[in-house]
Amino acid sequence: MAFFRRYCRNRNYVTGPGRVYEFFIRGHNAGESLMCGIIGYANADARNIAVPLLEGLSRLEYRGYDSAGIAVSGTDLTVYKHSGELEMLIERVPESGPSGAVGIGHTRWSTHGPPTDENAHPHTDCTDRVAVVHNGIIENARGLRRALEANGHTFDSQTDTEVIPHLIEAELDRSTAPETAFRNAVSQLEGSYAVGALIEGEAAIYATRHRSPLVLGLGDEWYYLASDVPAFLEYTNRVIYLEDGQVATIRPNALTVTNEDGSPTQPLAETVDWDTNAAKKGGYPHYMLKEIYDQPTAIEWCLRGRVGTPTDSVAIRSMEPLDRPEQIHFVSCGSSHHASLYGAQLLRERGIPAYAFLASEYDPGSIPIDDGTLVVAVTQSGETADTLYALSGAMEAGATTVAVTNVVGSTAARKADHTMYIRAGPEVGVAATKTFASQLVALSMFSSTLTDSWTPSLKQALCDLPGQIQQILDKSTMESIATDFLGSDAFFFIGRSYNAPVALEGALKTKEITYEHAEGFAAGELKHGPLSLVTDETPVIALWTAGADPAAMRTNIREVAARGAPVVVVTDSPGSAPEVADRIDVVPKTHPWTSPVLVNTSLQLFAYRIASALGRPIDKPRNLAKSVTVR
Ligand code: F6R
Repeated sequence: MAFFRRYCRNRNYVTGPGRVYEFFIRGHNAGESLMCGIIGYANADARNIAVPLLEGLSRLEYRGYDSAGIAVSGTDLTVYKHSGELEMLIERVPESGPSGAVGIGHTRWSTHGPPTDENAHPHTDCTDRVAVVHNGIIENARGLRRALEANGHTFDSQTDTEVIPHLIEAELDRSTAPETAFRNAVSQLEGSYAVGALIEGEAAIYATRHRSPLVLGLGDEWYYLASDVPAFLEYTNRVIYLEDGQVATIRPNALTVTNEDGSPTQPLAETVDWDTNAAKKGGYPHYMLKEIYDQPTAIEWCLRGRVGTPTDSVAIRSMEPLDRPEQIHFVSCGSSHHASLYGAQLLRERGIPAYAFLASEYDPGSIPIDDGTLVVAVTQSGETADTLYALSGAMEAGATTVAVTNVVGSTAARKADHTMYIRAGPEVGVAATKTFASQLVALSMFSSTLTDSWTPSLKQALCDLPGQIQQILDKSTMESIATDFLGSDAFFFIGRSYNAPVALEGALKTKEITYEHAEGFAAGELKHGPLSLVTDETPVIALWTAGADPAAMRTNIREVAARGAPVVVVTDSPGSAPEVADRIDVVPKTHPWTSPVLVNTSLQLFAYRIASALGRPIDKPRNLAKSVTVR
C-alpha cells in the first residue's frame, strides 16, 4: 500500500472515511469478469471518493489483478479503467476530478476475455448513464445480448457483464424508477453474480448478489460495499452480509435492503473480530511471509474456547447437534484437499469410514449417500465454486453437511447445515498458508470430538503448537537449505501416513510460488513410477517424523539417495534420521497428529525462500487468484 500512501501524501489527501477528500475521475468503456473484487463507497463528505475506492481495490487485488476500474456518480457519471495492475489505473486518474458522493470499483482476474482496457470494469450502457461492476458469470448473457442488440443496443466488448448496464438502460428508457430498473434488470440474469451499479443523477449504489459474495461495511455516516471484508476492515468491523436475491440501495447516510420480492428487510449487522492489522503486510516484504509468521496466533485463535489446558473440556458448539455419521465425505480443492486427506485419515483411524474427494470430481449420483452420510466442505474462502457445487449436490442427495471455513458469513458457511470456523484471520497472499495450518488443527479437533476420542496428550500437543511453530520461525535452517538448492531441475517431497498430505502441500506451495517443477508423493509410491525422474539434480525433501512407518520410510529415502538425489530430511528425531541425509532440518517433537503442522511450516519457508531468491511475485503468482469462484 506504500504506493497508495505516497500518492495520497503527494496530493495532500487524507485517507480515512468520514474525512474530506479531494480528487478526480472520468473516462469510460466496457468489459467482463469472474473472480475479481468489488468495492463501493457512499459518503456525502467524500469530495475525493476515488481515494477510498482505490485503497479498497488495493486490498482486494488478491482476488484478481489484471485490470481495474472505478466509476463515480456526481454531477456526471465518470469512469476510469485500465488493463494491468492497480498502479496503472492510478496513473490514469488525474489529480483533480469530478466530485461525487458514491462510487464503485473493480479489480479483475480474466477468464473469458483478455485483460484489456475494454474488458476492464466498470461497464457502461449505450449512453454512459449506467456503470456496472460484476463478479461471476451470466450464463444467459448470449441470449440477452442478442435481444438487446435487436432493440438497437450497441456493445463495446464480447463480455457477459456488459448486458447488465444495457438491461438497466432499457428499463430506464421505459421510465422505470432507478431502483426498480436495477431490480428488473438483475431478475433477468441467470448464473452467479455480485453486482454494483451507479445510475447517472442518483446518489446511490444499487447492489445485489446471487451465489457470489457481497458484504456491506457500516460507518457512522458512510457505507462500504465489497466482495470481502479486508477491503474496508481498517475503517469498520460492523458488517452486513447480503443474502442471495436481496437488493441493497446504498446512499450516503441511508441504507435500505429489500428481499427478492421487494419487501423491506432489516438484516442483522454482525461484528467481525479480525484484527485490523491482520489484513495488512505489517512490515513483511510479502503477505505470504507475514501469514506464515501469523501462524502461532492463527492457531491460538483456532483453539481458543475449544481447547484450553489439557484437562479442559472441548467445546465445538457448531458440532453439538451432530450424531456420529455412518460415513464421511470431504469435498475440497487444492490445499484444502490436502487438509481433508489428513482429516479423513484421522477419522478412519477412529473407526468412521471417511474419504477425501476432490470437489471438482465429486459426483453424488455415483456414490451412495443417505442421511447417515456427513459431507464436510473444507474451504478457507467458503466461496470456491467447485466445493460449493459439490456441497449442493450432497445436500440434494440427503447428506448432512458441515462447512469448515475461515470466512464468517461466506456462502459455504451459510449453505451448510453446520459450520466450524477455523478462525485464521484474513489471508491475503494467494498461496494458502495459515489457513492450511488452521484447517489441520480444526480437523484434528473435529475428528476427536466427533469420535469422542480426545486424549490429554493431544490437547497438550495442540496447546503447545503456537510456541513450537514460533521456534521453527525463529530458528529454521530451511532458508539456507533452500538457497543451496536453487537451480535444481525439480523438487520432490515425500512422506508417509499423516505426512503424505503435507508432502503434496509442500510441492503445491513450491510450484505455485516459485514456478519451479515440484511434485509431492506418498513415499511408497516412488518406486511405482516417479523414481524414474530422480537424478542428482532433483533434491528430495523427505518428511521423517513420528507417526510414519520408520523402516519403510528409511527404505524410500535410501531409494532416492541411491539414484544420486540430494536428500533433505525434515525430522523431529535427528539422531535417528537416515544416514544418507545430506541436510537435516529439525522440527520440535510433538504428537503424531500435530506433527504435520510443524513439518509444513518448514516446507512453507523452503518454498518462500526459493521464490524470494528467484524474485517471483509471491503474493500474486501468475495465472492464479485467491478465490476461485468458477468451475
Ligand atoms: C494453494 C491454494 C489453493 C486453494 C484452493 C481451495 O495455495 O490456496 O489450492 O487451497 O483453491 O480454496 P478454498 O480453500 O478457498 O476452497
